[in-house]
Order: sequence, then C-alpha cells, then structure tokens
Amino acid sequence: EFKENTVVVVFGASGDLSKKKTFPALFGLFREGYLDSSTKIIGYARSKLTDEDLRGKIAPNLKKPNGAKDDEKAEQFLKMVSYISGPYDEDQGFNTLRTEIEEYEKQKGVEEPHRLFYLALPPSAFMPVANNIKKLVYAKNGITRVVVEKPFGHDLESSRELQRDLSPLFTEDELFRIDHYLGKELVKNLLLLRFGNTFLNAAWNKENIQMIQISFKEPFGTEGRGGYFDEIGIIRDVMQNHLLQILTLLTMERPVSFDPESVRDEKVRVLKAFAPIDTNDILTGQYTKSEDGEKPGYLDDETVNPDSKCVTFAALGFKIRNERWDGVPIVMRAGKALNEGKVEIRVQFKAVPSGIFKDIPHNELVIRVQPNEAIYLKVNSKTPGLSTTTQVTELDLTYAKRYKNYWIPEAYEALIRDVLKGVHSNFVRDDELDVSWKLFTPLLNFLEGPDAPQPELYAYGSRGPKHLAEYLEKHKYVFEEQGLYQWPVSSPD
Ligand code: BG6
Repeated sequence: EFKENTVVVVFGASGDLSKKKTFPALFGLFREGYLDSSTKIIGYARSKLTDEDLRGKIAPNLKKPNGAKDDEKAEQFLKMVSYISGPYDEDQGFNTLRTEIEEYEKQKGVEEPHRLFYLALPPSAFMPVANNIKKLVYAKNGITRVVVEKPFGHDLESSRELQRDLSPLFTEDELFRIDHYLGKELVKNLLLLRFGNTFLNAAWNKENIQMIQISFKEPFGTEGRGGYFDEIGIIRDVMQNHLLQILTLLTMERPVSFDPESVRDEKVRVLKAFAPIDTNDILTGQYTKSEDGEKPGYLDDETVNPDSKCVTFAALGFKIRNERWDGVPIVMRAGKALNEGKVEIRVQFKAVPSGIFKDIPHNELVIRVQPNEAIYLKVNSKTPGLSTTTQVTELDLTYAKRYKNYWIPEAYEALIRDVLKGVHSNFVRDDELDVSWKLFTPLLNFLEGPDAPQPELYAYGSRGPKHLAEYLEKHKYVFEEQGLYQWPVSSPD
C-alpha cells in the first residue's frame, strides 16, 4: 500500500534528533515492511560529512524492537541513505539536492513525484530551509509533504509569525506538525477507549469523575542542555504540547467520525472551553543537588543564568467550562530530575454512596503511557473466601502480558508512517496550535515577568516540591491508605 520511489530528505541529518529518532524510525518502518526499499533517503546538513560518515553515525541506533542489532536489515537500509552537505540559507546545496532528486526520479521513471521533507532543525534554520524547499525542490507535479518539529514558536505572537511565514509556502495539507506524544500507543488509544466502551463513556463526566491528573516524570535533569532549557522551561518543553494533547483527547466530545478534520475540530472546540490558567492555582519548582550531593542542581549548570527562576517542575490547575466538565479539577504536572521516569493519566471517580460501605476506596482508571504500557482500573471487590469485606483490586491490561506478539511501533515510526500515507489525524492543526498558545502565553509571561514567583526547590531524585501532595489534595485527589493496594512496579513477564 506504500508508494514506491519516494524521496525522503532529512534536514539536520547530523543532529541529535535525526540520529536518535528520525533515522531509527525510518529504519523501523523499513524493517517491518512499511517503507519500500525503493525509497531514497537523503540526509542534508551543514557539517562536512561523506555518505559513509553519516551511515556510521546512524548505524549504532538501527535495532530490532528488543534492542538487538539487526545487521542484515541495517545494511540494506543504509544503502538507501546518502548525504549532502550544504548551507540552509543559500541556493547552492539545494541545487545539488534538486539534481540528485531529479536524476533519481528520472531513472525510476517517476511521473508523479512523492517528496517528503523532514525538518529536524533549530528554529533559526527553519524558515530559510522552508523557503528553499519551496523555491528549489518542491514537487510541482506531485506530492510534497513537509514535517516540522517543535518548537512551533515561543509564545502566541512568535507562533503566529511562524505560521504567517509558512502558510504562503505550503498548504495545511502539506504540513505535518509533529507532536510525538500523539504517536504513542496509549495516546492513540484514548479516543477508542473512551468512545468504544459504553461503561466508560457513560461515566466520563462531572457527575462521576472527581478529578483528572496527567503526570509526566523524568528521572534526569537538563544534563548538557541547560542553556537551551533555560529559555524554554518545562511548561513549553512538555506541557503546552505533549500533555495538553493528552488532556485534549481525554476531554473532547465525540467526533462525528474518525477522519482527521472531525477529530481536530473537536479538539479545538474543547480547547476553546478551557478557562484561562489561574496563576494562583499553580505550583512551580526547580531542582537542586540530589540529597547525596552526587547529582547537580539546575543552577550548577554553567550555561544557565545563575539566578534563573526557570521552572523545571510545574503543576497547573485547569478548568473546562462546559457541560461535561464544569467544576471538575484537572491537574497537569511535569518535572525533571525526579525519583522515576513515568507518564500516566489518572482519572479518579467519585466516592460511592455511604451506607452499606464505610470508607471504601474510589475507583480509579490509570492509563500508563510509559514505561511498560498499561491500563488498569482500581475496583472494589469481595475478599475471596468466607470474608464479606471488600478490598481493592485491579482490572489489568498490561500490554506486555496481553499483547506479547504485537509489534508496538515507536511514536516516530507511527507518525512518519502517517506522513507517508498523508494522514493528518495525529498532527497538530494550525488553529489548534493557536488556541494552545493562547491558553499558555499569559501564564508564561507571568512566570517570566517581573513578578515571577520563586519556584519551590526540590532535590534531584526526589518526588518533587514538598507542597505537591497538598496541592493535589486541594484539587480533590484522594490518596488512599497506604498498603491497601500497590501496583507491582517490576516489569511483568
Ligand atoms: C521532548 C522534550 O519533546 O520530549 C524532552 O524536549 C523530553 O525534554 C521528551 O525529554 C520526552 O519524550 P519521551 O518520548 O522520552 O517521553
């Protein structure tokens, strides 16, 4: 079903993103039979490299899903890859690129070219490359697809400016704004879970849900990226994009169909119902040295402004002013340098009526996006045997147990496959981007302005700021008694 003789150009080919994500994803698709061996992959960057140099950089990351090397496939794949070194802002390299593409297409007898340009570039190189693509390598009689990576601007104004510059060059149909969280298996499952299950769908509202929590935890700090991160902060890095996408899918109304525009229409609609983020309803943090002194604090990074108030942890309260969600507390929280790496969604249901039960725990649906994908529902059930008491147990869908023989693509694999097919559902539409910046820009201005609060300090490797538990309780999250129920953390077999 894939197109033969496609040309894929990866700009920024010598950079980290393409080495770690783009090329391995192209390889993964090839390995699984979703990228035709006639595809021509051209890396483009400023560094002076040979074809062999680039292949050498890529090769160590070409693996099987279980992490083992796949030499045979890798060798075939690397033969499809070549390199062009050239500037981003002059015609020169693009002319070489054009000749190479045209010769290949001529040799293959391609009548309707299919060209995919992947911009794994820093913001400064972004527009020069986009302009040169349009000017020199755009497929006039065929299909051009342009994949862009965040950041899509720094705030509402710069995002609009970027959009103003891009829109005369490419149609919305040709553009694919990647948010790689939309390619994660459990994020892709959200709409199916919600709308494909009567019992969940029926309970998915303010009458039954007590609160919603989306949590992102990383066990490492900004190691080596401090200078970059200082301008960005955790809110731009993962909240305005990745976590907001999750929240949108969790709260949007049922789309009329699964076609990309119907889905994205509903996403935009719910985003417009969000109340402005209340700057009094946030908790911000910044990490310091680990308790044992081994791991550096954020400010120990020399590339960071020494009195930076950059936020490396944030918990934000959201309110959605529509019939379904009015009054339901929603918390989004994210932090670097915490005690573990985990992304999960917790939907806590309201208490059961008292009377026959005393202090019975709340139902909770947990969707663990990573690691070790799982969906589990905490339910109350009779203790087996002669006892008539209840205890918490779980309805458990752990992917590694249930779906042993499935290939679960990496986020980038799934998304690049969508681009190859021209499917936009899992990409960010222009108006969606605009509403999301509208929502976050006032908060960012506050946190970066003269009245910015001092973030609460927390130790590298800890659970985050001390006030987090209190903050969550204030948003009606009920911590159940310890010891009743513990999700086994070890990976299942
Ligand atoms: C990126 C952020 O967009 O997402 C990184 O820039 C972050 O700071 C990463 O580490 C997280 O992605 P994943 O797929 O590892 O959860």
